[in-house]
Amino acid sequence: LKILTTIAEVKGSEQTGGALVPTLGALHAGHVSLIKAAKSSGLPTIVSIFVNPTQFGPDEDYDRYPRSFDSDCEKAADAGADAVFAPAVEEMYKSSTSRIEVPEVTELYEGSLRPAHFSGVCTVVLKLINIAECQEAFFGQKDLQQCAVIQRMAADLNVPVEIRIVPTLREPDGLAMSSRNVYLDPKSRAIAPSLYRTLSDTRQRLLMGEDPATEVATAATNLEREGFRVDYVDLIDRVAFRPTTLIHKNCALIAAAKLGNTRLIDNLLVFSDENMS
Ligand code: PAF
Repeated sequence: LKILTTIAEVKGSEQTGGALVPTLGALHAGHVSLIKAAKSSGLPTIVSIFVNPTQFGPDEDYDRYPRSFDSDCEKAADAGADAVFAPAVEEMYKSSTSRIEVPEVTELYEGSLRPAHFSGVCTVVLKLINIAECQEAFFGQKDLQQCAVIQRMAADLNVPVEIRIVPTLREPDGLAMSSRNVYLDPKSRAIAPSLYRTLSDTRQRLLMGEDPATEVATAATNLEREGFRVDYVDLIDRVAFRPTTLIHKNCALIAAAKLGNTRLIDNLLVFSDENMS
């Protein structure tokens, strides 16, 4: 595994022009599945490890975001990565002030609750794609709105890259894998799988023809009863990332809710949990 820390090193490496797996580090089995998917494309694979400050709000967890560089490198190597790109903040941003804005698809949900988040994500992702000159870039379906925003950015700006979406990996009890799960205390950890169970039950009921508005409202009430503080539960069109009341092939159920200080997000495609791309 090559460890690259400067843009010049990436540009001069044999891994440019291959597959890119952008991460914030704190790698878990979900990231490992992204790296394995990238590797199975047959392209040389770079994993970027960069806790990107521009996507964190002032009251968010940038400073305490879990950092575990040595074990991240071991996991990346075991999953088949050829190189890790781990730049300093200064190397990535220097004095740059440009930012990418993708309107509409960022207007609701995470976009409205976390202002500037998607601008920070898109800016860093586009920079990483340009630095790695990758043919394919891999993202987890767990961050469904992020997937929609990045796909939209790539389409709108004619970015010559294939955006690949990899299904969410789950703990045996259904909890979606996330680097932030380490924040959950034992009581919250015991409640957390209800988020997935609630989405699954709601999905079943929608497939049986129940009314979407009623089912979404019931899901939110049930989650509150379990101890969650719900930010949103909704049935959406996952391309436009807007609410829908019609069940169609692009429908997804999305939810975000807090348990204590930990915010969890999850989603299910209504018609399939299979790979989206
Ligand atoms: O999903 C993430 O881990 C981050 O938002 C990403 C895509 C690596 C950009 O910093």
